[in-house]
Amino acid sequence: MAVPELHPLLRDRRSTRQYDPTHELDDGVLVQLLEAARWSPSAGNSQPWAFLVARRGDEAHDKLVGTLSRGNTSWVPTASAVLISLFRAGADEDPTFAYSDYAAYDLGQAVAHLTVQAQASGLSVHQFAGFDHARVAELFAVPPAWQVTTGIAIGLHQPREEESRPRVRREIGEFAFSGTFGTPFTP
Ligand SMILES: Cc1cc2nc3c(=O)[nH]c(=O)nc-3n(C[C@H](O)[C@H](O)[C@H](O)COP(=O)(O)O)c2cc1C
Repeated sequence: MAVPELHPLLRDRRSTRQYDPTHELDDGVLVQLLEAARWSPSAGNSQPWAFLVARRGDEAHDKLVGTLSRGNTSWVPTASAVLISLFRAGADEDPTFAYSDYAAYDLGQAVAHLTVQAQASGLSVHQFAGFDHARVAELFAVPPAWQVTTGIAIGLHQPREEESRPRVRREIGEFAFSGTFGTPFTP
């Protein structure tokens, strides 16, 4: 079956490890990325996400770089900015937030929207889990109701030859089902 090609914003997205280490992220563009997250849908419009914002060279960035796992130290610091994503995992005294069972889902979707906006703005996003979450919570005084989740490196992709690894994915029939769970969907 001929599958129509994806939109270029999705087709061309990659989690690069090769950032231009001199690129500075414009304030307006950074806010635009947060706007993309802000306008994503969420259960009951609960908007249960938060982001710690750090830019290469500032104090928050220095703190974050110190928490990276070994595999991420070579490339995360070269990105122009790093966000740490959080979702509201529990209830507390704050009356502005209603507890939602879908908070993790909503955060993921907000980050997906941010990622697509970054791609549209000519930037590359690479999400990462390899950092010391507990240490970040401590360093940034994160309240207990909030779950530190992923890092989001944002910057200008600087292509070099060694990054042409083939990309692999499960087939659609392995994750889209019809009838009963596990029965591959066939169009
Ligand atoms: C929640 C999450 C955690 C990830 N953690 C890391 C990480 O710690 N280090 C890393 O290099 N990439 C990390 N990645 C990137 C994935 O490895 C990458 O998205 C996947 O291999 C698919 O490649 P692509 O994004 O280029 O299509 C993570 C991605 C996600 C969504």
